[in-house]
Amino acid sequence: MEQTISEKIKLLEDKYAQMGQDLPSYLDGLLLSNYLTYWDYVQVDTLLTLQNPKTDFPDELIFIIYHQITELYFKLCLHELNQIANNGTKMESNGKNGGWNEQIKVGFLTERINRINRYFESLTHSFEIMVDGMEREQFLRYRMALLPASGFQSAQYRKIEMVCTDFINLVDKEVRANYINTSAPVEELFPFIYWNKGATELATGKKTLTLQQFEKKYGADFIALAKAHQHSNVWQKYKSLSPSDQQNTALVNALKQLDINVNINWPLMHYKSAVRYLQHGSGDAAATGGTNWQKYLPPRFQKRIFYPEIWTEQEIEDWGKGWVETHVFKS
Ligand code: HEM
Repeated sequence: MEQTISEKIKLLEDKYAQMGQDLPSYLDGLLLSNYLTYWDYVQVDTLLTLQNPKTDFPDELIFIIYHQITELYFKLCLHELNQIANNGTKMESNGKNGGWNEQIKVGFLTERINRINRYFESLTHSFEIMVDGMEREQFLRYRMALLPASGFQSAQYRKIEMVCTDFINLVDKEVRANYINTSAPVEELFPFIYWNKGATELATGKKTLTLQQFEKKYGADFIALAKAHQHSNVWQKYKSLSPSDQQNTALVNALKQLDINVNINWPLMHYKSAVRYLQHGSGDAAATGGTNWQKYLPPRFQKRIFYPEIWTEQEIEDWGKGWVETHVFKS
């Protein structure tokens, strides 16, 4: 029911009184404050200062902006994942945080996972901007000014993985079996994280500079994040539901789609861009991190799977071969 002005003033008085504040002073502030503008709210001017190409090749701007767009979508994914970990906030009408729910609700979990699915689907579709939207000759020249930086160093991408699944699923598949059901702590598993394989120098077998710098900046953060989510990652939230809720078809489909989006569809589109720019007849251009990306990037080699328990053995066997999505979702 619509409140009258005087009822609203009473509510405001109560709100400020609770914090020992004086409403009339705040009303003075309201009289003096300017109207909000779009450009201030969205921080447009600041946003548009954040693109600083290292060369004069015009296509480098596309490369920077598309990476920034991706990082913003990753931020949205982490925003949803954070709400899942905390079972969702309950906002009261006065805007105050009404506290956390104790148990995640099946509908909430499904909706938030589907939001992440939409973000990833948007990224997967728009990746054509990378695959087809730049001149190869320009790319091959300006990328030399960006060494040894690589998208490999996207911390948000790794954080999304750590909050989506149990840490054991991110351990290199060659050593994973040794640690399953051992309850080894994250610190012990971290040296075997899958991505080390993508950052080992072909010539020497040493960690690439790209990886060394990445670990130095984020290693401790990653371990802390993974530990903090041992019981509140998406899989653990799913397992905390009742057996009947765990059978919920919409939820199980959302989880499957998330696994496909993050671990097959996006990596395949990304791989396509590496092929377009770095692969050529006379031998392949070294990746910015100096790695054997052809053996590392394709999902069928990596077999990163967030939720192995909800896939059949055959589906796991065929991971990344185009089979999973066609057979699971096309009826
Ligand atoms: C023309 C466009 C692109 C090319 C040619 C490309 C190429 C590569 C290559 C070769 C690698 C392997 C690691 C290395 O040796 O550096 C890699 C890793 C990676 N790139 Fe890109 N990339 C492109 C665009 C992007 C974009 C837009 C993002 C968005 C953030 C991104 C994120 C990543 C991530 C997260 C990894 C690590 C993948 C993994 O560990 O499985 N890349 N990229």
